[in-house]
Amino acid sequence: MALGTVVIAAGTMSLAVPVSAATPVGGDAAGSGGVRALVIGGATVPLTPVKITKPAANRYLRPRGGPVAVVAHRGASSAAPENTLVAQEVARRAGADLIETDVQPSKDGVPFVMHDRTVDRTTNGAGPVRALTSAQLRKLDAGSWFAPHYRGAKVPTLAGQLADLRTRGGRLLLEIKGPHTRAEVARIVKVIRAQRMTGRVFVQSFEVSVLRYARELAPELPLGLLRSSLDADPVGVTKNLRLTAYNPSHGALLARPRIVADLHKAGVAVMPWTADSPSLWKRLDTLGVDAIITNRPAELTGWNDARP
Ligand code: G3P
Ligand code: CA
Repeated sequence: MALGTVVIAAGTMSLAVPVSAATPVGGDAAGSGGVRALVIGGATVPLTPVKITKPAANRYLRPRGGPVAVVAHRGASSAAPENTLVAQEVARRAGADLIETDVQPSKDGVPFVMHDRTVDRTTNGAGPVRALTSAQLRKLDAGSWFAPHYRGAKVPTLAGQLADLRTRGGRLLLEIKGPHTRAEVARIVKVIRAQRMTGRVFVQSFEVSVLRYARELAPELPLGLLRSSLDADPVGVTKNLRLTAYNPSHGALLARPRIVADLHKAGVAVMPWTADSPSLWKRLDTLGVDAIITNRPAELTGWNDARP
């Protein structure tokens, strides 16, 4: 396991190398015992331009005594049509720390924001998302099913959603929904990078293969594993996949609450889903979870504010 990184700087260029891959010459790796150089990949790098940094702390862990983070599930989906920009706007105004949405590709490979496999329930169209072209998806009304007032709301592209977050504010908990190929995950990463949003996106998935692709393609993105039921060894799984968060259903978590302490000890955040009542929020808050994924972000924000 890497102990940290060495950053080798020369002019405007820099290179980060895991400390575990470097051998100190002439003392200890911290530089306090007379280290003069590090041997990295066969090359000797003098210590003078080398700065040793600790691995970044997991900023998704709840600060001691702080409020639980509010995650708006599919946007503020109790108040607006799920996975639309209007649901995102309501979530933003509700004070959500993260906005959760789901992404899957159109027939022509464009990542669109949609939960179900088909568009039938949440639009005026029909058929699997993957069988519809981006031109067809762009024409759909994704608001009327929820209330007439929302007629004309669109199925957002991931690019459109990220542009909205970048310009109007907010952070994204992006669920890559269902199995994806490596190329499909690469397309999602490309969109996130093109929108300059890698610092504000957290990727989660039920699919282990998707998380492996994301880790390989975008090591800069924090990752979380969604679970309907718990793994025998959640800490082992998070280490194996190098996860920032483990995100179980609230029911599974409440049946085995000790895993919160185990995961925290391993530096992993816990963000259960989908809890909508104050009685559940209280139980999860007492367990010390880091975030709660809810369809009612405004209410959870208010509940947080009223905590003693
Ligand atoms: O974020 C957790 C939750 O979204 C997982 O379930 O079906 O709502 O995507 P689902
Ligand atoms: Ca989801």
